[in-house]
Amino acid sequence: MTHTTPPLVIANWKMNPATLDEAKVIFAGTKVAAKKFLHAQVVIAPPVLYLLELKKLLGKSSLSLGVQTAHEAPLGAYTGEIGIGMLSAARVSHVILGHSERRLLGETDEMIARKVPALLKANIVPVICVGERERDTHGNFYGVIEAQITKALGGVKASALKNIVIAYEPIWAIGTGKTAAVADVYEMQLFIEKILTKIFNRAAARKVAVIYGGSVNADNAKALFTEGGIAGFLVGGASLKPTEFTKIIAATTN
Ligand code: PGA
Repeated sequence: MTHTTPPLVIANWKMNPATLDEAKVIFAGTKVAAKKFLHAQVVIAPPVLYLLELKKLLGKSSLSLGVQTAHEAPLGAYTGEIGIGMLSAARVSHVILGHSERRLLGETDEMIARKVPALLKANIVPVICVGERERDTHGNFYGVIEAQITKALGGVKASALKNIVIAYEPIWAIGTGKTAAVADVYEMQLFIEKILTKIFNRAAARKVAVIYGGSVNADNAKALFTEGGIAGFLVGGASLKPTEFTKIIAATTN
């Protein structure tokens, strides 16, 4: 896939770090990196508890803030949830949907399908995570990806695809140190484009940024970016280490 938009690098801090002070240190390091590599769009998705404090430190930085999940209802009796309206008021740029760790906690394809249009309406970019639990030798995992994408985009018009990101995150590669082979990532992003073409049309399909996540680090990022055909990364563990994360951002220069 050709990169028509700036590379996108998203830091998924998950449930880290332990304190706001530590979050500020990681944030400051990432801010320096974002300033140095202006070619890329860098998004930090911290725990929501830190979001507004970190936002105060943004200044003129090109960094933006995202979150790791959201509830599709504007307000209401949803104990423990954060609504899309609130995130929009806080000027959150991206929301991660369907991360495998959230799917384990009960986020379904149907819920994702409701959240996508609600986010688009609020001018927030949905980052839809898809990925197989394991790679079988018969290629059945392609069907898993196709089903996840087809269900997630059920309520979306072709014209909205330019505002959607798909993160291919094979579950076996998340936090395990096992990265998908570059050739497999390349094939998967082509496959995702094919599915999107089937559901919508080719022109719209090419507008979706497909990024990769799963044990991305300073050593494997360059090959994944230049040969994997992807538009960027969703980074977990390595995003908590600014020096390493900086190298990942740097790897997205062509
Ligand atoms: P990882 O996590 O980089 O630690 O494998 C990626 C993710 O879960 O988004």
